[in-house]
Amino acid sequence: MARITASVYTSHIPAVGVAMDLGKTQEPYWQPVFEGYEYSKEWLKENKPDVVFLVYNDHGTAFSLEMIPTFALGTGAEYPPADEGWGPRPVPMVHGHPELSAHIAQSVIQDDFDLTLINEMPVDHGLTVPLSVMCGQPEAWPFKVIPFHVNVVQYPVPSGKRCFELGQAIRRAVESFDEDLNVQIWGTGGMSHQLQGARAGLINREWDNAFLDRLIADPADLSNMPHIDYVREAGSEGVELVMWLIARGAMADVNGGAAPTVKHRFYHVPASNTAVGHLILENNI
Ligand code: DHB
Ligand code: FE
Repeated sequence: MARITASVYTSHIPAVGVAMDLGKTQEPYWQPVFEGYEYSKEWLKENKPDVVFLVYNDHGTAFSLEMIPTFALGTGAEYPPADEGWGPRPVPMVHGHPELSAHIAQSVIQDDFDLTLINEMPVDHGLTVPLSVMCGQPEAWPFKVIPFHVNVVQYPVPSGKRCFELGQAIRRAVESFDEDLNVQIWGTGGMSHQLQGARAGLINREWDNAFLDRLIADPADLSNMPHIDYVREAGSEGVELVMWLIARGAMADVNGGAAPTVKHRFYHVPASNTAVGHLILENNI
């Protein structure tokens, strides 16, 4: 039986990927950012999953205003790194797990979440930057990745509650897959940031840290927070944080099991225009 053993949460700032690609991680501005992931890289080596279910948002790269799926599950065998304007990042091809994806599609759709299924798409910084900060710069990614896109770019976006309940459905799906697989679920994006308009540059340390506290201690309650609170407190792009609730909803404690162990927590400003937030929670099965 497949099991969700841990969840990882991280910002997906494009400039962080560029700093790695250009060898700038030890520069004074970037060093404190990457230091926050040193523990995580070791932890991931010791707790290597077979598959990562990676919740992220496409930023007008694979999708555009022509097509706006709310929830889209990657069902393909491979996904190339996207060209976001400067050529594709020099990172490995992402390899999927079509059998587990097909099973998740069957289970989650029959559980009343109507997913879009994607067999072919390039993956942008929303997916590749989390892989880079967690894995470094390997020749090949050390596990299979199932990309799961959430529309947090064009309103209306899904509610925190819908995302949390979807996470619970994803847990039921993974745990009913016959093969013995170690699966992690990652939630990406955030924390506070606003990239445009009069409030561009907004950062809210206090709110971000309260969000981390609540995500750990009472995510069901946190999932009731309305969008307007995310946007007002964490900026227009801070609403990416609803994706973290998908990963959190897939953990044991909110599905009748034991509370997770907080293995790592990190928060740092500045990094590009965004507050870096990062958390690793391990399930106690
Ligand atoms: C930045 C952060 C993001 O999450 C993103 O998708 C694009 C840009 C930034 O900090 O610049
Ligand atoms: Fe983003």
